[in-house]
Amino acid sequence: MKRLCPLLLSLFLVPVLLSAQPADFRWQPVAPGVWKATVGQAETLTLLSAAGIQPNREALQKLGTLPFPQALKASKNERTDGKVYLRFPLVRDEQLFGLGLNFKTVQQRGTIKTLHVDHYGGQDNGRTHAPVPFYVSDQGYGVLINSARYITVYAGTAARKDSKNPPEEMNRNSQKNWKAQPYSDAVEVLVPAAGTEVYVFAGKNAMEVVQRYNLYCGGGVLPPKWGLGFSHRTPTLFSDKQIMEEVNAFAEKGYPLSVVGLEPGWQTHAYPNSYVWDSTRLPQPQPFLDQLAQKNIRTNLWINPYVSTHSPIYKYILPYTASHTVWVGVVPDFNLKPARDIFKKHFTEQHIKLGVSGYKVDETDGYDRWLWPDVAKFPSGFSAEQVRQTYGLQFQKMSDEWFREKNTRTYGLTRASNAGASALPYVLYNDYYNHKDFITALCNSSFIGVLWTPEARSSKTAEEWLRRMQAVCLSPMALLNAWADGTKPWTFPEVADQVKEVMQLRMQLLPYLYTTFAQYHFEGKPPIRAMHLVEGFADASTVVAGKLDATDNPYAQAIRQDIRDQYMLGDFLLVAPLFADEPKRKVILPPGKWYDFYTGKLVGEGETIEVDQTGKPGAIPLFVRDGGVIPMVPPALHSPRQDEVVPLTVRHYGTQPGSWPLYDDDGTTFDFEKGQYSWTPLTATRTANGGLSGTYQTQSGKPFRYSSVTWEFMTR
Ligand code: GAL
Repeated sequence: MKRLCPLLLSLFLVPVLLSAQPADFRWQPVAPGVWKATVGQAETLTLLSAAGIQPNREALQKLGTLPFPQALKASKNERTDGKVYLRFPLVRDEQLFGLGLNFKTVQQRGTIKTLHVDHYGGQDNGRTHAPVPFYVSDQGYGVLINSARYITVYAGTAARKDSKNPPEEMNRNSQKNWKAQPYSDAVEVLVPAAGTEVYVFAGKNAMEVVQRYNLYCGGGVLPPKWGLGFSHRTPTLFSDKQIMEEVNAFAEKGYPLSVVGLEPGWQTHAYPNSYVWDSTRLPQPQPFLDQLAQKNIRTNLWINPYVSTHSPIYKYILPYTASHTVWVGVVPDFNLKPARDIFKKHFTEQHIKLGVSGYKVDETDGYDRWLWPDVAKFPSGFSAEQVRQTYGLQFQKMSDEWFREKNTRTYGLTRASNAGASALPYVLYNDYYNHKDFITALCNSSFIGVLWTPEARSSKTAEEWLRRMQAVCLSPMALLNAWADGTKPWTFPEVADQVKEVMQLRMQLLPYLYTTFAQYHFEGKPPIRAMHLVEGFADASTVVAGKLDATDNPYAQAIRQDIRDQYMLGDFLLVAPLFADEPKRKVILPPGKWYDFYTGKLVGEGETIEVDQTGKPGAIPLFVRDGGVIPMVPPALHSPRQDEVVPLTVRHYGTQPGSWPLYDDDGTTFDFEKGQYSWTPLTATRTANGGLSGTYQTQSGKPFRYSSVTWEFMTR
């Protein structure tokens, strides 16, 4: 037999050797319970770099360490065709959550998404305001793909020939249970870049995974106290006089107001923008802002980042803008420091110095037909795709720094975000306006380190108005956006009093909300929590342990469902919104006893109950866990001023004693980052006669802005 000549042999072998083989990841610990691996050549602009994250190492340390998740040990990566393929195994019954701000479902296993910053278009296909490439498994781990690319995630949809747990072959001719989508045992990911970073977050349960993720991103944002009051955005072309009249009407009618939002008409030019006060509508911005400040009302300005030729910054920013325009405005490349500096100078001198407290940064998301195309070029050299994925994050980060330098917190609105946003002081919103889907978005926001507001704008009926206003008051930002409709809280007289009640409740709950956000900051626990994040609620162990199995409790079946219409606000409050024309609903109560927030009466325990307000639309259904402690203040018209001291009422529910630490600080500055804060234990103890009594213990020298503490035992 003729021997193959070596040259021929090498020609044959070289392509074989070059075609990549699936490789193991090289996981490096980067924090307790957090690992990172780099596949190929990682890119310099990533989601986490754009967000400028600074892990809270102390808090991560406190959370403790865990071994690398066993389930992910068999993960593989491959480099092929200039792209990266990733594969992470799944087990049967494993549930997946996250993968962006989705509006239709909470469970994501079995879905495919191409994650792309965009205005939500009605389908959970990956195009959304915060397409965060992070998923959380109920098996106690999370995976983050830190790449600013349009990543495609097959979240348990595909089956490989060499699968260890392949789906069973079925015969459609004879087997009725044949499925178009056979079982898949892996999440597979396509990153259209030569390299990427991948992070793994461990956790004893889904909540702990989310905590590690948020803490790694710096810990959740702690808004100023005023940010948790009520926000109202006035019609777009309102003058100073009209805005002031509206603000006064809130006070006269007794509706709370902490922030007034000015829409595009505050500027001389909008779409694209001048960022200059319009002298016909707002001739004297300084006295106008001062007057609002005296009334204890903050001002937020609407903008988008596209610069008009009429803007004084136009000629300076021009060299640092993209090849394409948006509404004929130039598109700044915020990867370049000079571009950031030009914005900073103008915005701080022309707005913030005058007293502006925050921004609503619009249109950083999409649609494609409005924004720059993917063939646009940016002077920093980053691709249009990378800029699209990070633009919202960059604006958030940049503007947060303007306020930080003044040692003042801000709390604004953004329409685009992405991974790494936990610490950034912005809340997402959009134009989609589907009330039910807005609640699903609230649930989903809790897995991915972003905040969402189900803002109210308008309604067809009084009932819808009431339901929307109720839900928004139990969300991260209580917001009425009247920019187009000119609605007011009292627009529907039939429900005007009920709307007032829920707005007042929002103000009363301020200490509870503020502590809940402090948990987000210091412990990484999101303020809104999907039911699957609630301890003991849906992790497989609850059911497997036999405590709650399907035979004796319908609850066990319920937790396998897509629970998208109820959520926890903080540790104790379960919110079950009602919707227009749906006066009845089911509420799934996690294990333990639950009490009606308004009456203190027992409503159930680890079961599904029904709420029925047929014919008598009432308050938003709220339930409190046994032993729940809800610190409240009197219903003020405005959030308290920095030096204001108010009386506190602590409501206790149920029969369990217990202690809950109440957080406080000055409410406006960043001094809390230097230790200027307090955690005051609110403790309910059992008395000799079997009742309960309440105490609290302040720490001397630490902020505590309450003049007196009264306990109210709601369950008698
Ligand atoms: C939209 C935004 C609205 C409102 C409007 C003003 O893009 O979502 O909330 O601000 O612009 O033109």
